[in-house]
Amino acid sequence: RGKKAFVAGVADDNGFGWAISKALSEAGAEVILGTWVPALNIFETSYRRGKFDESRKLSDGSLMEFAKIYPMDAVFDTPDDVPEDIATNKRYAGNEKWTVSEVAKCVEADFGKIDIVVHSLANGPEVAKPLLETSRKGYLAAVSASSYSMVSMVQHFAPLMNEGGAVISLTYIASEAVIPGYGGGMSSAKAALESDTRVLAYEAGRKHGIRVNTISAGPLGSRAAKAIGFIDKMINYSLSNAPLAEKPLGAIEIGNTAAFLCSPLASAITGQTIYVDNGLSVMGSAT
Ligand code: NAI
Repeated sequence: RGKKAFVAGVADDNGFGWAISKALSEAGAEVILGTWVPALNIFETSYRRGKFDESRKLSDGSLMEFAKIYPMDAVFDTPDDVPEDIATNKRYAGNEKWTVSEVAKCVEADFGKIDIVVHSLANGPEVAKPLLETSRKGYLAAVSASSYSMVSMVQHFAPLMNEGGAVISLTYIASEAVIPGYGGGMSSAKAALESDTRVLAYEAGRKHGIRVNTISAGPLGSRAAKAIGFIDKMINYSLSNAPLAEKPLGAIEIGNTAAFLCSPLASAITGQTIYVDNGLSVMGSAT
């Protein structure tokens, strides 16, 4: 039986979510997407126009297909949580059932039980501000979009996952060591995400028999990372200082690790933060 994967956080072909979808497709899984509502229209239009065809190519020559693309906003759990300004926002108009609980219900109605859930999303409106200048609102928004969104996804999707299933998210070393420039409470949000990975591994392991892990990825020039503004510096730092120096980090390397972690090959791995960063995290100084 082919596995079914729900991947949240794909809106172009540059990020980790896309690469994970690709690795899962290569491994024979059926991939269902949850795409941020304001980004959905342009993603679907570009997809239809063939803009991603080159990056959709799988090793057997066929093109990666998504079983379905749902609109989703991981900051809201139920329709009652949606404030008026979002409900009436024109970037949300024409879409429905995009809160986490509603998406989970739609996935269950359309696909039944699933095996894999991928959380590849983050947002911190004040990421460019140092923590020392971050507002309460900005900090809580970062944690809501980047950490609680994972808790919410596990709450709502775990009940529709087959035993032996797996959840994966993406984290960053700024959770445990100071990375100047990764502000706005995003470092805090990643620390919460890693801690929640352990607690959810325990709770959802006991309750649903599923595994929960997070991948601490090295720097990638994704759309989200470019918005932070310091990604080129981080990539160059890694190229100079990682044990695997001068080796660019490919998103697909994170994708392949995710496919491994979601497979029976990783059946005893849960609650872990797995580093996929050319080894940069083991260095204690620049070289
Ligand atoms: P990306 O831009 O490809 O992915 C982020 C996605 O989150 C986008 O598709 C965006 O539409 C979506 N999103 C934002 N707010 C959302 C919401 N409220 N509901 C649903 N979707 C929402 O960028 P990237 O870098 O691939 O990010 C994926 C994950 O990887 C994030 O958790 C990020 O923090 C993490 N990561 C990225 C690193 C990098 O250097 N790019 C390094 C380590 C971790």
